[in-house]
Amino acid sequence: MEASSSLNATEVAHPLVAASLGLLRDKNTPKAAFAAALAGVGALLFWEASRALRLATTQVTTPGGAVADVSARPDTIVLLPILRAGLGFLRGIEPWVPGAPVATVGISRDHTTLEPRIYHETLPPLAGRDVFVLEPMLATGGSACAVLERVRAAQPASLTLLSVLAAPVGLATVHQTAPETRVFVAAIDEGLDARGYIVPGLGDAGDRLLGT
Ligand code: URA
Repeated sequence: MEASSSLNATEVAHPLVAASLGLLRDKNTPKAAFAAALAGVGALLFWEASRALRLATTQVTTPGGAVADVSARPDTIVLLPILRAGLGFLRGIEPWVPGAPVATVGISRDHTTLEPRIYHETLPPLAGRDVFVLEPMLATGGSACAVLERVRAAQPASLTLLSVLAAPVGLATVHQTAPETRVFVAAIDEGLDARGYIVPGLGDAGDRLLGT
């Protein structure tokens, strides 16, 4: 695992992440396999990013009648997939935190200016919560920053961004906008093409996830 502490970003180096990334990059990977790989990478990034979570402690009674002190997941986690591609991560992450509220923000990009436009937003209370923003493709950083600005205004306890791929400019923009955000990525790519797509990238993650 490599960490770029200057940008608060961690590149998660794991054989399963690398193999899934190979599938995601391959233009011949069919929809179902793409969705499975995206969910798998989301789960592995969440695994790494949640290491620092503060566990709650409680007591349970075992089938043998003994009382045991046990750890319990905190009820502070909020998952925030950015539509559409973030839904691909949600599938992999939600089984680990089934009761966590799911906030949703829908953002489209103007294809000429590449500026983000929010067309949908449902945010539960975020103050004091550990918010995980799911944005598989961190390209210009415009969409992520539009969300991060809204979330940080609600004063969460922590802010984490999970992405399969990040362009260096996207990482820098996120760090400039919300430097407290911890970023976990499968890989940092070379840059962006003229349409704002990540290079070498994996294409349009939302289209490939949903078969559109
Ligand atoms: N969104 C995508 O789906 N792919 C990119 O390369 C950039 C943004």
